[in-house]
Amino acid sequence: MDRIRIGGGNKLNGTIPISGAKNAALPLMIVSLLSEDTLTLRNTPRLADVRMLQRILQNHGVDISTDGKRAGQSGQCGETLRLTARTIADTTAPYELVSKMRASFWVLGPLLARCGEAKVSLPGGCAIGTRPVDLHIMAMEQLGATIAIEAGYVLAKAPKGLIGNRISFPKVSVGATHAALMAATLAKGDTIIENAAQEPEIGDVAECLVKMGARIEGIHSPTLKVTGVTSLHGADHTVIADRIETGTYAMAVAMTGGDATLQGARPDTLDTVIDVLADSDVDVRKSNDGLRILRNGAGIAPIRVETQPYPGFPTDLQAQLMALMTKAKGTSVIRETIFENRFMHVQELARLGADIQLQGDSAEIRGVEKLTGAPVMATDLRASVSLVIAALAAEGDTVLHRVYHLDRGFESLEQKLRDCGADIERLAGQ
Ligand code: UD1
Repeated sequence: MDRIRIGGGNKLNGTIPISGAKNAALPLMIVSLLSEDTLTLRNTPRLADVRMLQRILQNHGVDISTDGKRAGQSGQCGETLRLTARTIADTTAPYELVSKMRASFWVLGPLLARCGEAKVSLPGGCAIGTRPVDLHIMAMEQLGATIAIEAGYVLAKAPKGLIGNRISFPKVSVGATHAALMAATLAKGDTIIENAAQEPEIGDVAECLVKMGARIEGIHSPTLKVTGVTSLHGADHTVIADRIETGTYAMAVAMTGGDATLQGARPDTLDTVIDVLADSDVDVRKSNDGLRILRNGAGIAPIRVETQPYPGFPTDLQAQLMALMTKAKGTSVIRETIFENRFMHVQELARLGADIQLQGDSAEIRGVEKLTGAPVMATDLRASVSLVIAALAAEGDTVLHRVYHLDRGFESLEQKLRDCGADIERLAGQ
């Protein structure tokens, strides 16, 4: 398995291109199941999760082609995928595939809407809590499906098609909102989705669906109204910039000091994160090009933050913020309210010299003068990148094991950091 070695101490200066959002690309790819025509997705990040979902969709009969790189294009710009689900060859999503990536469970809604049936394995994915799918199932039942759970599979049936209804989520869920939205586009009549997640990636998916002929009102709001249509046609869509990748690099630059532009970032999707960085005395400037992050000389001020659904502070940046606060001038408190087991990075950060106390859903981080490089283990996608951030500011070398977690969600991470002056390299094999 590959490892990554990071020599700490270099400032980050330069330009970091921001990729298309993983959390938009995955549901957008799944949207292709809703139409016989071709969905073209531009700016798709080159990630292990995208490759895995390609395999899952191909298993359902989706034809997928990838445009080759043009002359002069670097490996850092996303690729164009063309997905065509002319016919659905198989409505089963097997355990062997779904267990590798949780978001693949989201095929349930589109398969059900288009074919009137689906058999989808209960999911796996990052080990960050129990992550149930009750809200997905509730949404499909509200749309008239009958659901049974047998031998680890969800069996869903709606032989006469889905029927529009009111779906009022008791809790905000990104995945369940995607599922309800996609399924409702082909249901008969109107669907109202209340307490919908408002993550920008949901807006991106909704905008793509509208290009395909879906009728959706209230995009970017907590109440979505969908008027079902009989079919959707093809479209050409560009995946929104990754706000989590943007926030991650912003914290890396804040951690090491330096001056870097996060090119192509969408500051409008990062208001809360920008506020938190500003509160910690990091200089954040919005520009036409994206976002510029500067920290020269000034220390990092401690903060108190809790994770919340969008527009609150994202749980997907909690580990990275914690890494940054390990070197703050004082004590910070970070409360995780979305996932109950999302502190696995704490003991690995401690191996680098961080001083963190956990109490229930809160972490108290006492800033230390210095971190020291050590061997560490990646445990999940966002946790692993928090270790990279800490290692960039630690004295000496850190070797990160199990980097396949990083490859799931960060395109060209080493290259992007190296181009800004980081001492980082991938060590193959072992
Ligand atoms: C998505 C993101 C993930 C992010 C998370 C929260 C993608 C591919 N993944 O994951 O990166 O960390 O949103 O912003 O976009 N829940 C239930 N029942 C359900 C579904 C969810 O109780 O049926 C709970 C979860 O356990 C969790 C909370 O709702 O406590 C939020 O989860 P959800 O928003 O659904 O996360 P995902 O869509 O899986």
